[in-house]
Amino acid sequence: MTDSDAKLQITETVMQRVRERFAVDGSGHGIDHIMRVYRMAIRIAEEESCDAFIVALAALLHDVGDHKLTESGNENHRNEIAALLDGTGLSGKQVNQIIDIVEKVSFKGNGVEDAPLSHEGRCVRDSDRLDAMGSIGIARAFAYGALKGRPMFDAGQKPGMYDSFSDYKKNTSHTINHFYEKLLLLKDRMETAAGKRLAEGRHAMLEAFVSDFLLEWDAEK
Ligand code: ADP
Ligand code: NI
Repeated sequence: MTDSDAKLQITETVMQRVRERFAVDGSGHGIDHIMRVYRMAIRIAEEESCDAFIVALAALLHDVGDHKLTESGNENHRNEIAALLDGTGLSGKQVNQIIDIVEKVSFKGNGVEDAPLSHEGRCVRDSDRLDAMGSIGIARAFAYGALKGRPMFDAGQKPGMYDSFSDYKKNTSHTINHFYEKLLLLKDRMETAAGKRLAEGRHAMLEAFVSDFLLEWDAEK
């Protein structure tokens, strides 16, 4: 078996385990999101000189232990990721590279700088963020808002500034605020060449959507 055959086999094993771990869900964070992030991360990595194997595995595992998906709301990446990689023969260094990416991938607040990431991690983070933008990003935001019982919009609740992850997590505001507090900021946080390029069209879609939404809300359009 060649090295690339072995890597493909490990990727498929992990993909199967992730499919079992994440069922289809209503929050916009199910296996369909993970598979889009996986495919896009590989596409982004093709233009970057980095380890595509680590990019693939980290993309598949990027939402494991996410605070939005765990019952306690706390993050617990390390143990779960180690369990999902158990028996694959990855080195400790490779496991740590993946855990480092998963720990830093999430947006932590509009007033919080992104943690510096490895080259592989930047491909995964840009890919995850592209899926929060454009048509799919809009659909995911409202799916998540509905699941959390949030109103679509409330003109009386203005967007906030969050200087810490704990404040950002506590926010229960309406979904249009999420566009101002996160989604519309993502374009300028892209770090890879392909991510920056693809973010342009998706950002324009978000802007057009919010602008029409507010006009329709006020019966102006
Ligand atoms: P991240 O790890 O950066 O949060 P994820 O892919 O795990 O990225 O999930 C982000 C997506 O979750 C958002 O793009 C959005 O669709 C949804 N989401 C999270 N918080 C909210 C919110 N307050 N309102 C609406 N959608 C939200
Ligand atoms: Ni994600």
